Amino acid sequence: MSTDEQGPGPSRRRVLLGGAAAAGAGAVALTGTDALVRSLRSASGEAAEADPVHGGRTHPFHGAHQAGIATPPQANARFIGVDLREEVDADGVRRLLSLLSDDAARLTQGRAALADTEPELALAPAGLTVTLGFGPGLVERVDPDAVPAWLGPLPAFDTDRLEDRWSHGDLLLQVCCDDTLTLSHAARMLLKDVRAFGSVRWSQEGFRRSHGTEPAGTTMRNLMGQVDGTVNPEANDPDFDPLVWCGAEGPGWLRGGTAVVLRRISMDLDGWDRLDRPGREDSVGRRLDNGAPLTGAEEHDEPDLDAVTPLGFPVIAEYAHIRRARSEDPDERIFRRAYNYESVGGGAHGDDAGLLFVCYQRDPDRQFVPIQRRLDQLDLLNEWITHIGSAVFAVPPGCAEGGFVGETLFDR
Ligand code: HEM
Repeated sequence: MSTDEQGPGPSRRRVLLGGAAAAGAGAVALTGTDALVRSLRSASGEAAEADPVHGGRTHPFHGAHQAGIATPPQANARFIGVDLREEVDADGVRRLLSLLSDDAARLTQGRAALADTEPELALAPAGLTVTLGFGPGLVERVDPDAVPAWLGPLPAFDTDRLEDRWSHGDLLLQVCCDDTLTLSHAARMLLKDVRAFGSVRWSQEGFRRSHGTEPAGTTMRNLMGQVDGTVNPEANDPDFDPLVWCGAEGPGWLRGGTAVVLRRISMDLDGWDRLDRPGREDSVGRRLDNGAPLTGAEEHDEPDLDAVTPLGFPVIAEYAHIRRARSEDPDERIFRRAYNYESVGGGAHGDDAGLLFVCYQRDPDRQFVPIQRRLDQLDLLNEWITHIGSAVFAVPPGCAEGGFVGETLFDR
């Protein structure tokens, strides 16, 4: 649930928005994607009328599950991997989690953190969510028997080129928001809490389209231009809960929690530029304009994997990403909530862009791993993508007011 606050009336911004929308729509029309232009035009028309302000939007922090998973993806995300100091014991972990939960509860509701040095920056939550995840190093400090079997490095895949600087960690702070200034402030406040207990191992920023650029619910596009996220369980699907939230299989402290897999996947966009449009569509098995399968017309049409061309070749190739990613086992599915990334001015490391592939599931060994194994073996996209970072975290359930995220690990 979220709240929307409407700002005051129209004025200069409305005029500017109208002008920009008209220019933008003209540019898109050249590519011939008329439906997209029409939907953007009508949405901008409505937006210009209402001139909405989104800064007051909140997602509850307290609840059965942590926010930031089933929450509709915000425009921006920061994933921060933290290494705990060696001397931090179970009691230290408890203090850290209490501090983080307390500040996250405030910040997500538009209130300043406890020792907020810039309290004004907290006043526009803009859909902020803070989600905490635990690596094996954190769980072990509280109870070595409480580490789930799947919590640790994933098996190695042939196409992996993993770098330590984007991998692993004891604690994950996932901060998502529709406003980058709010996000930056929230991350800084949370990292102040962390300071006495550990240090940042890596920090990764991701983005989607800005809030309001496209109608809510539009499937995102990645930097290769593809519609990415079409076949994905939705929070209100009956399948969502059993696929995503941990249950009776244990460990008990994770019931109502989930597992997150974060893979930093670099894209060779210059190489991709050299591929023509049919080649690009063939590699995934879907059209670039609206994301429809090559055997269909609309984005959500069911792909026909048996369809063949007049020459007898499969329309959706054997090496196409969607054929390889799909499983016949309905339990072998994941919930994807990815973000684009672009790191400019990378100095010695150069510029890099790609996808922060983020997925949630109750057991990565049974869900992510078999899918990635198939992709690793055969997926034409591998020509242009490389996995360079990998981390898995156990995401505990949510907490009630007065409690803290991760308390179930202590109350056993
Ligand atoms: C940079 C890397 C990747 C890119 C650019 C990419 C892109 C896409 C695109 C364009 C689609 C089709 C639209 C959709 O249903 O979302 C898709 C589908 C899918 N991808 Fe990926 N993907 C990447 C990595 C991965 C990885 C690492 C996994 C999991 C191991 C994965 C799992 C899936 C699944 C499960 C589907 C839906 C397949 C179905 O139709 O049933 N993808 N991806």
